[in-house]
Amino acid sequence: MTTTRTTPRPVTPLAILAASLDDVVARLDEAGAGPDGVALDPALGSEIRRAAALAAGLDPYTAALSTPESPALRALSERTAAEDWAGDGSGLEQEMLSGHLEGQLLKMLVHVTRARQVLEIGMFTGYSALAMAEAVQEVAGEEGVVVACEIDERVAALAQECFEASPAGDRIDVHVGPAMDTLHALADAGARFDLVFLDADKAGYADYLRALLDTGLLARRGLLVVDNTLMQGQPWTGEATPNGEAIAAFNQVLADDPRVEQVVLPVRDGVTLVRRTAG
Ligand SMILES: C[S@@+](CC[C@H](N)C(=O)[O-])C[C@H]1O[C@@H](n2cnc3c(N)ncnc32)[C@H](O)[C@@H]1O
Repeated sequence: MTTTRTTPRPVTPLAILAASLDDVVARLDEAGAGPDGVALDPALGSEIRRAAALAAGLDPYTAALSTPESPALRALSERTAAEDWAGDGSGLEQEMLSGHLEGQLLKMLVHVTRARQVLEIGMFTGYSALAMAEAVQEVAGEEGVVVACEIDERVAALAQECFEASPAGDRIDVHVGPAMDTLHALADAGARFDLVFLDADKAGYADYLRALLDTGLLARRGLLVVDNTLMQGQPWTGEATPNGEAIAAFNQVLADDPRVEQVVLPVRDGVTLVRRTAG
């Protein structure tokens, strides 16, 4: 992969909304400019600017007031941004990286659940795996483990390089291949996880959920964290891509499953927290 750097495109409902409102403001300014400009009701103009500022400021504010990422996570993020994703033909892109706020949320969840055994399904360049490994190391020292599943060999190799340069990187055990094969192998070996982060192919989410619950890979009091459950707003805007349709279907499967209870958090592209119920 050659080195290049592009600005990430908006991929969360909030970022898409902020970009859209920004565009409306720019077009209003353009329409009102010059002697023949169209006069807009000033109250309406100021209402639109207020909405645009509200949307644009939320992500920077939450990031600024959350604990900063470690130098190792920052380096991994910068390394990911410097890759030429468009030119490598893998279909992977820098926008897949979860990033500071979600990484900090995952670290917090590892701490509050006191998770020692963590499973990640969909690692990409390793940001979320490394964030959880940093927390697992604090919770359980050398007994803490993050098992990370990734199908793409090149991206797994890039992640491994970053892990080797990171203080908590040796807590991560990378499994390259289709995640479902890895899940079956782990289940056959009797593995149990206190926390599972699901962030791989969206069309596979419902099957991963079944595998986690049916095999007992998700421990009885374990926490399942599912990413992208708002999928850029597609489940409710009707502009559904195959990923949007898969997420809408998955969300319904989860809502209908009596074995679990869940809460959908509007963090980044949607993060759903799931736990087994007593039944
Ligand atoms: C959204 S990215 C993961 C982002 C990562 N969790 C993070 O926070 O930076 C999804 C990843 O899942 C991987 N993936 C897709 N299908 C997979 C499969 N069947 N098995 C394992 N990994 C898969 C992709 O190659 C991609 O790297």
